[in-house]
Amino acid sequence: MSPDVEPLGQLRRTHTAGELTAADTGKDVVLLGWVHRVRDLGALVFFDVRDRHGVTQVVGRDDHPGAADAAKRLRPEFVVAVQGRVEKRSKEAVNPKIRTGEIEVVARDIRLLNDAKTPPFPINEESNVSEETRLRYRYLDLRRPKLQQNLILRHKAAFAVRRYFDEQGFLEIETPILTKSTPEGARDYLVPSRVHPGEFYALPQSPQIFKQILMISGLDRYFQIVKCFRDEDLRADRQPEFTQVDLEISFATESLVFSILEPLMGRLMALIGRDAPAPFRRMPYAEAIAKYGSDKPDLRVGMELKDLSEPFGSSEFAVFRNAIAKGGEVRGFVVPNAARYSRKELDQINDEVKQLGGAGVVWARRAEATVQSSGLKAAGEEVIRRALELAGAGPADLLLLAAGPHAPTARLLGALRLSIAKRENLLDPNRYEFLWVVDFPMFEWLEEQNRWEFMHHPFTAPLESDANRLESDPGSVRARAYDMVLNGSEIGGGSIRIHDQRLQRLIFKLLGMSDEEAKLRFGFFVDALEYGTPPHGGIALGLDRIIAILAGEQSIREVIAFPKTAQAVDLMAGAPSLVDARQLRELRIKAGE
Ligand code: AMO
Repeated sequence: MSPDVEPLGQLRRTHTAGELTAADTGKDVVLLGWVHRVRDLGALVFFDVRDRHGVTQVVGRDDHPGAADAAKRLRPEFVVAVQGRVEKRSKEAVNPKIRTGEIEVVARDIRLLNDAKTPPFPINEESNVSEETRLRYRYLDLRRPKLQQNLILRHKAAFAVRRYFDEQGFLEIETPILTKSTPEGARDYLVPSRVHPGEFYALPQSPQIFKQILMISGLDRYFQIVKCFRDEDLRADRQPEFTQVDLEISFATESLVFSILEPLMGRLMALIGRDAPAPFRRMPYAEAIAKYGSDKPDLRVGMELKDLSEPFGSSEFAVFRNAIAKGGEVRGFVVPNAARYSRKELDQINDEVKQLGGAGVVWARRAEATVQSSGLKAAGEEVIRRALELAGAGPADLLLLAAGPHAPTARLLGALRLSIAKRENLLDPNRYEFLWVVDFPMFEWLEEQNRWEFMHHPFTAPLESDANRLESDPGSVRARAYDMVLNGSEIGGGSIRIHDQRLQRLIFKLLGMSDEEAKLRFGFFVDALEYGTPPHGGIALGLDRIIAILAGEQSIREVIAFPKTAQAVDLMAGAPSLVDARQLRELRIKAGE
């Protein structure tokens, strides 16, 4: 039988559950919140009241029999109002871990404001509940202090962003959600128009075109904290709807953009008591690939990849020699203090490389006066010794090697570098390494489609020094694009844009877009470019990713109030869902095939 619930009446909260200390001893207080934990000791009943500010211990005692009786009926997650007096706890009962740990509230009156079903997982302890259950009952999951802290951090970050950009003379301007497809490389979410049967709006993948148009309109500096929508394969750091801190600056250069963004990151880091020393390192894309096999290198760990082709070019080890002869290379990196790996561990590494899509990896290490290696015997001791020396491997270190064409070999080793760094606990969670990756290639070649595709988006300007090769050698042209990377995560991307409509038309052409197609998709934008476009550039930061890193979370789902699963499902709301036939008829849509 459910207990009787009582009205709140005129009761007002005097304090939150997170603020009372010994200095408040003797005060009459009213706390409102949820029952967190109950311990019934017979003559005494202790329970914790929880709200988003913390927990406070309450005691029901015989000197207030009504309150003691009421306390006995409490269960976790009941909603209560507690009136009582603050008292110091006895010395043994003090909990130094929480702010309210020195006191308790001796209840005079306990009002049950609402009862609660037993939750499917406990809120008051860490439990091994599946993510699916957590997401289905997100309203309960969000009662957990860690998630509440994450949302509070997110609020503070958004607030800091707004204050900073206001100080820097930016205007927050909203751009449409029902709009036209903008090319960010993912699939669009489409919304059918009832008024124009057969026609669709697209939800924006980003406000890219609109923010550039705002620069054409003379708004000078724009920013927005904005939802973006992309129908793409999801991972821990991707959601179908996510939030960007989006901005655009007229008369921008790379260094102006960086000089505005770096102090912003400083403000955000300050929220967790850290800093972001400016200027951040800058690294050309080609160097990032060569040294780290990634365009978003995690610089918390060294283990740089090196070209070790030289000793193998004329060696007897055919696999490596042939790879070099075909224009490829031998690349490798040193794992510090890993000469101790057992055969089993070394085999595991080899298996992992195969899972990553590589043919395998070869290892080498020093051993007493000689060297040891897997598979390299044919190369001969001298060659192996030379490779170890070139790589800078000490006696306690392990050298891992692979051969093949430059980029795929580097990427394979880069993935292995990261996984070994994780396994060896080399990625210090208390270090924050910011980096700008610059000079991305303008285009990448799509083998299956036999055409060039943009790397960033088609509005990115080429490096001035490379622009004369746009038609003769597009693959060699670098873009004025930059990514902001933090601890191996791409937390932002942007570029200096094309402001010359002639160049913009040429880029569309190089991307295989006919004049008509370009006109159909972006006609309004190309037209706008003709009316006095200032040089401009900008960037968008991934707010979810930044908050996840600041909060020390592995997945952005932990910093989004109502996220979707990896299958793009909202388990709580039950979206997506079927809609009724009448609605579809109105939209002239036939569901299914
Ligand atoms: P870009 O596509 O690089 O650039 O996106 C900017 C940043 O947004 C974040 N991000 C995502 N976060 C969560 N889930 C996703 N599905 C997702 N996709 C991207 C990343 C990324 O760095 N219009 C350009 C910006 C510009 O040129 O100014 C753009 O959208 O952190």
